[in-house]
Amino acid sequence: MDATIKQRIKELKLQRNAMIVAHNYQLPEIQDLADFTGDSLELSVKAASIDCQVLVFCGVRFMAETAKILSPAKTVLFPVLEAGCPMADMITREELIAFKQDHPGAIVVCYVNSSAEVKAECDIAVTSANAARIVSQLPPEREIIFLPDRHLGAYVQAKTGRQMVLWPGYCPTHARITPQEIRALRNRYPNAVVLVHPECPSDTIEEADEVLSTGGMCTFVRTSTSKQFIIATESGIIHRLKKENPNAEYIPVSPYAICPNMKQIHVEDVLRALEKMEYPIQLSEEIRERALLPLRRMLDGRIE
Ligand code: 13P
Ligand code: SF4
Repeated sequence: MDATIKQRIKELKLQRNAMIVAHNYQLPEIQDLADFTGDSLELSVKAASIDCQVLVFCGVRFMAETAKILSPAKTVLFPVLEAGCPMADMITREELIAFKQDHPGAIVVCYVNSSAEVKAECDIAVTSANAARIVSQLPPEREIIFLPDRHLGAYVQAKTGRQMVLWPGYCPTHARITPQEIRALRNRYPNAVVLVHPECPSDTIEEADEVLSTGGMCTFVRTSTSKQFIIATESGIIHRLKKENPNAEYIPVSPYAICPNMKQIHVEDVLRALEKMEYPIQLSEEIRERALLPLRRMLDGRIE
């Protein structure tokens, strides 16, 4: 990383009372630059508690929106406007409103990978780290709509035994990860532990030793006695795993497990964001307040 750019970012952070947070799939240089790196749940919690005026959010749009919803007094900067999540874009607020009319009385559970506008129509949010636990606590007599990830939804159904109405969205990056790839790697690395993200299709999840969020993978590796891991999620996580546990070996499941959206932010973008205060996340107060409800229920563990 260019030392002058890094120095300039450091100065601007001080000047603006800014912090940088990054998702575990961000480019290595961005993860190294960040004050905090984490999964969606950890980033939500951090966004609400971190003490600063300006938060530079390196991830995809719904994550920066979540930070703004939880921390409205902060200026949340999203350095590259185009860095959206294709799965989050697979449902709009209008589509959800129409869908809800076909399922009156249903509890609407949204994966945090959804827009603020969609969250505003939902009852409770979940992340890949807490989805099964939260769904298992919902009143058994109520119908549940789960959106937008049908693969995470199917995994939660299998894990909890709760039937849900699944919106047919999916993550294009995780949908590409196949059971055949995992089986081939298991043959080559028979001692490796297979860690699979629950955004993968169910036949891929069946090959897992552990099904975990990206944060869960970091914790698991930290406490595991194994020294070899097959990583079935976006390969950006491997940078953090190597940094935290350099003595283990990490085998990416596939060269194609890369989310192009997560790779759009570069160090120069972070510098520009801080110099020009680009691009502040702006949400109407109506949407922000309504979207806060499902997030607060998730974070406070309130199921009612
Ligand atoms: P987690 O980091 O919460 O596991 O989420 C994965 C993901 O795909 C985020 O876009
Ligand atoms: Fe969205 Fe999938 Fe990329 Fe995560 S990895 S941001 S779910 S497209």
